[in-house]
Amino acid sequence: MTSRSQNPAARPPGFVYRETKRGILRRKGPLVLQCEDVPLFKLAEQYGTPLYVYSATMIRERYDAFDAAFRNVPHTICYSVKANSNLSILRMLARKGCGFDVVSGGELERVLAAERRAAKNVVFSGVGKTREELAGALKAGIMLFNVESESELWALAECAGRLRKSAPVALRVNPDVAAETHPYISTGLRKHKFGVPIREVRALYARASGARYLKVCGVSVHIGSQITDVAPFGESMSRVADLVRELRGDGHRIDYIDAGGGLGIAYEEPTALPFPAEVAAYARALATPLRGLDVRLLLEPGRSIIGPAGVLLTSVVYRKANDGKRFLVVDAAMNDLIRPALYGAYHEILPVTQNVGSVVNNEVTDIVGPVCETGDFFARDRQLPVVDEGRLLAILDAGAYGMVLASNYNTRPRPAEVLISGKSAKVIRRREKVSDLLRAEQ
Ligand code: LLP
Repeated sequence: MTSRSQNPAARPPGFVYRETKRGILRRKGPLVLQCEDVPLFKLAEQYGTPLYVYSATMIRERYDAFDAAFRNVPHTICYSVKANSNLSILRMLARKGCGFDVVSGGELERVLAAERRAAKNVVFSGVGKTREELAGALKAGIMLFNVESESELWALAECAGRLRKSAPVALRVNPDVAAETHPYISTGLRKHKFGVPIREVRALYARASGARYLKVCGVSVHIGSQITDVAPFGESMSRVADLVRELRGDGHRIDYIDAGGGLGIAYEEPTALPFPAEVAAYARALATPLRGLDVRLLLEPGRSIIGPAGVLLTSVVYRKANDGKRFLVVDAAMNDLIRPALYGAYHEILPVTQNVGSVVNNEVTDIVGPVCETGDFFARDRQLPVVDEGRLLAILDAGAYGMVLASNYNTRPRPAEVLISGKSAKVIRRREKVSDLLRAEQ
């Protein structure tokens, strides 16, 4: 197993090591990790750490690859806002014609703030939409409500009736398909809270179609997140395709199939395939069972678009050893990026500068934050080149479910976010101050 840190050539395209030259003899200097054309250490100098850094080019390229993979099917990509909801990123995607998957009134407001006209390409998912949120989305004129229960269906009918607006509805079915991923983010089994069991859903479609202000027009499904084997996607799609044929037989008009999100990324290993080939395999798995159905396919990718396009930059505050066990204490913590603490998730971690030529000394160390919990770690027993105090590390693949899950635990202001495009760097969220945190309190 070669980890990506041992093979700098395997960096994703947005984040690459560049060789530098030193002295008048132009001898080989250290390798410097860059985001596009900007060395990460320069960003740390200018904006401080911890710092989220995103590659705009990489986001655009991944979006384009996703879109191209589905070129043979009528489709709309509804980027899953929960993965990374920064306004600049939403705006950038909206400009490319991307739609959005939202799961709260707040996310819908973000999308509208980024681009008012995107409302017509918004799908609204989630098991607990309140009447207030439903009414807000009706007023905005969204494309589709993914309804997850009978109670929600009647709440939506009531809101739609009050506003005299027709509500476009897909029922989210639970296909009872197992997908290999962390149990916290697997959603497509009977025991999970999501959707309506696929075997019971026809009766609910029949009742929904009798409601004056509901316009039944789709079926939606989402089996989980960080799924790297495409077979379960195909399996759930073929169950959905059968259902669509039955529903049409029952006289319903089904225009949309919403396939949800969930395509995983390679956190630990460089992928065997470049992203366009990977997403093409995913597209085949989804599209094959839908052949001949004449529907518009909605897709809700989050992580696969934005995950590899972001890193969390952090500085080593202290080195310490307890009874021979080594620790690098960094200035980022579980409040900034919770994935390792919450799911035991692996993130590749790289030194921002690496010496070449001389022998690289490696060590095995834990990389931990300053929060008062043993769960506050980014890596355990990780082999890394020796990194001195004051030096920088980049925690890779932090673009999705990084900043959006950040909290103020331990009264830690949340990091700034910077978006890189070529040589230019733009602060897309300023660093929080403690005064921002205190303002809302008495
Ligand atoms: N659609 C629905 C209905 C979802 O629930 C989700 C993710 C997505 C789309 C986007 O899935 P993606 O393409 O990003 O896998 N915090 C966890 C992930 C939670 C995913 C929740 N739902 C993590 O850090 O791994």
